[in-house]
Amino acid sequence: MADPRVTGLRGIELAVFDLAASAAFYKTCWALELVGQSGDRAFLRAAGAEHHVLTLHQRPRAGVVRVNFAAPDRASVDALHAKAQALGATTHAPQALMKEEGGGYGFEIVTPEGQLLRVSSDVALHADVDPDTARPTKVNHVVLNAADMDLQMKFFCDMLGFKFSDCNGHMNFIRCSANHHSIALAKSDGPSLNHVAFEMEDIDGLMRGVGRMRLAEHELGWGVGRHAGPGRNVFSYFVDPNGFAIEYTTDVDQVDDSYVSRSGEYWANLPLRPCAWAGAKMMATPRMREAMGGKLIAAANAALAQSCDDAISNKMAG
Ligand SMILES: [Fe+2]
Repeated sequence: MADPRVTGLRGIELAVFDLAASAAFYKTCWALELVGQSGDRAFLRAAGAEHHVLTLHQRPRAGVVRVNFAAPDRASVDALHAKAQALGATTHAPQALMKEEGGGYGFEIVTPEGQLLRVSSDVALHADVDPDTARPTKVNHVVLNAADMDLQMKFFCDMLGFKFSDCNGHMNFIRCSANHHSIALAKSDGPSLNHVAFEMEDIDGLMRGVGRMRLAEHELGWGVGRHAGPGRNVFSYFVDPNGFAIEYTTDVDQVDDSYVSRSGEYWANLPLRPCAWAGAKMMATPRMREAMGGKLIAAANAALAQSCDDAISNKMAG
């Protein structure tokens, strides 16, 4: 296979402090649906056909466990794995994936900054698609904070076949399908999750989702607005109970090989940066910015580690 590449983003797996509480939030407030539970993991689907778009893992530390990508077929998975080996990446041979995850065939690979990725094909799809537009249909994009943008860019483009879409000065937007960006890399002091965006069918559906979140007392962290930047999508950002930044998005640019990539200067000079229009929150709240910087998760992990140390000290002192 001349040029094997991934062709889509399946979803993300997150380590959380309280599996039951996090699953309840993503079901009740974020409108995903539980499709399976296995040990310390819960699998949640969106309204679209993908088997699941979010896996929650009960762990002592919160963070990203894995980002999952689609390849068209087993031959593509094998070809991508061979490419990974040729490029010197450490990876196990592709294998059959677990039934509770929708099965399929895939392998794992680690980015230069340590994020675990899985490439898979033949994962079971749902025959039913929920027409309720107030529910997310899939994961549209994942934004990763990166200390070494060049290294991460090279990995995603050379290894997985991503194409450069745009740069806004501090973020690179890259695509693996017609969707303007399935991954973006944000300049940062270290690797963490910037945010994960769930796609809504249209603006009306997105506003209904935002309403559901606000009625449940979850503060809107930024938006509702439309980015005057790469992707030009409608956005609304929230912070989940763990401290992860999550987004409802819709109307992301769909592009082809004729798309002309722009520089940060182009986007910076557009009027009304960073929003073409914005509603309740013109700018991200300080807490939203901390979440996008991975700071809330880091602080929660540090606080938990400190409380464990204190508990051990108290026990030894007693
Ligand atoms: Fe986004």
